[in-house]
Amino acid sequence: MRSIIDVLDLSVKELDDLIRQAVDISERPRDFADAARGKKLATLFFEPSTRTRLSFEAAMYELGGNVLSVPGAALSSAAKGESVSDTAKVLSCYADIAAIRHPREGAALVASEAASIPVINAGDGGHCHPTQTLADLLTVHREKGRLDSLTVGFCGDLKYGRTVHSLINAMARYPGTKFVLISPEELKLPAYVREGTIRKSGLAFCETASLEEALPGLDILYMTRIQRERFEEAEDYERLKNSYILTAEKMKLAGENCSILHPLPRVNEISVKVDDDPRACYFKQVKNGKLMRMALILMLLREAESPKEKREMGEDTGDVCQNLRCITTTEQELPQRFTIDPFTHRKKCVWCEAETKPLF
Ligand code: NCD
Repeated sequence: MRSIIDVLDLSVKELDDLIRQAVDISERPRDFADAARGKKLATLFFEPSTRTRLSFEAAMYELGGNVLSVPGAALSSAAKGESVSDTAKVLSCYADIAAIRHPREGAALVASEAASIPVINAGDGGHCHPTQTLADLLTVHREKGRLDSLTVGFCGDLKYGRTVHSLINAMARYPGTKFVLISPEELKLPAYVREGTIRKSGLAFCETASLEEALPGLDILYMTRIQRERFEEAEDYERLKNSYILTAEKMKLAGENCSILHPLPRVNEISVKVDDDPRACYFKQVKNGKLMRMALILMLLREAESPKEKREMGEDTGDVCQNLRCITTTEQELPQRFTIDPFTHRKKCVWCEAETKPLF
């Protein structure tokens, strides 16, 4: 039995298998209509969501399974002070599999360590969002016919955008990927992703603040919204919120085969006029998300009877995680644990992956 906290919990071969399975499901949906009959998915969303929650639920129904849902932290025992670990143990008594979204970074990992059912991370703060990445990968595969040798631009809030972090983790495993990181200085990609994923992979990357300069060379443009809810100062959000707006005019700079992706929700960073452009793929992504979640649920339910997979949980180094959004700041008696990245030589919190200061 295993949980999916990060897209790296899936091998490249498993990603290929999931893509194949999702395509198969889309071609023969009736053959899968009973595939999860008698099974229950619990969805626990402690942060707003439309697509992710509904697509998990639609996925489970289309597999013939059932859904138990808690529609928000305010209506669950979290509001009474229940820990994530306790909630996960309770869910394990009712459901066969769970999808969890939580504002604290590392919360899904905490839940998976406590649960005796597979847990899927449906977004933990600004950290990871692996199932959005599954939707993104299927979309890229369908649009381009491959996942390697692509120049991918990421534009907007690269600091707090968890979908960006997860997709970079995934794309860094495909040879020939080139990353173009487009953001204002204040919203640049965190070091643990830039150094620990991109530089470590040896793949080419560049950082720029100019969408206009980057656009002509891209195969994929992954637009993101500025993540208002993760800013510590409201005025910083106000200053940065209109950093990038992709208009029909700017689309003239993009190549004729440049696919535009966005995890949604959009605020104003893509003009509605771009929606009719054949290169706009963001609503196709939504549909692909449901198919990939169906494939993932099937994979995890198939493995659910085998013993729980053990993770590398680091050690108590005497450090305290400095990330104010880390689950260690709120979860009762959760031990501080760190691993040392062999490439960057920095200590990383096992829960949220934030780095402490460099060791050397
Ligand atoms: C994203 C998320 O929640 O991180 N949305 C989604 O799941 N499709 C992107 C976002 O909120 O900006």
